[in-house]
Amino acid sequence: MTGPVVVAIDGPAGSGKSTVSRAVAHRLGLGFLDTGAMYRALTWWLLNNGVDVDDADAVANACDKPAVLAGIDADGPTITVDGVDVSGPIRTAEVTAKVSAVAAVPEVRARLVEIQRASAAAAPQGIVAEGRDMGTVVFPRATAKVFLTASPAARAARRAAELRAKGVDEETVRRMAGDLVRRDAADSGRAASPLAKAADAVEVDTSDLSLDEVVDRVVGLVRERVSA
Ligand code: DC
Repeated sequence: MTGPVVVAIDGPAGSGKSTVSRAVAHRLGLGFLDTGAMYRALTWWLLNNGVDVDDADAVANACDKPAVLAGIDADGPTITVDGVDVSGPIRTAEVTAKVSAVAAVPEVRARLVEIQRASAAAAPQGIVAEGRDMGTVVFPRATAKVFLTASPAARAARRAAELRAKGVDEETVRRMAGDLVRRDAADSGRAASPLAKAADAVEVDTSDLSLDEVVDRVVGLVRERVSA
């Protein structure tokens, strides 16, 4: 594939975005950018530095203090805050419960979008970027845009399986499954760059598809767009 390619993948939590995006990046030899990890990393830093994450002004004032960096190698994506690896801590229930409030603050979005665009520009072959506003706001001229969906039951089941595989106890699994529904409502209903399908995005319902089927579909779409 020649020339930098941007594949924008959006969708709600549990739609399979991360797994699909990483596999597509791998198949096409592109970088991979998990923008949700960046919102989580900033949330982790705010919580650790005593900032009240429910106070939008406090979040706006503090959000440009830490250096949030996402490594874009699809074989080993990294996420650091001020040089510290936070890939573990950003997946805790505490960060997950608070990240939507942080992601709703316009100053946070402006700052992270800038870093996201710079990361994409630095990827030699191009990038697969996943999040909530990749196709609508961050990369409006993306080569291909995909909006992944899945039934609420399929999303909850996937998230629960992921958590169980990590050895998380059942009570936490149940709490985090409920959290997923609340988070989607918050992410879709906020004023600043809500989760939305871009007009020119292709929607793929992953509920009854295997990972390989979804990846084949997305890779096929990208190849079609590149050769068009
Ligand atoms: O994909 P994820 O669950 O790791 O994302 C964490 C949160 O960050 C999610 O609740 C919504 C928010 N987010 C966002 O607002 N915009 C993005 N581009 C990516 C994530």
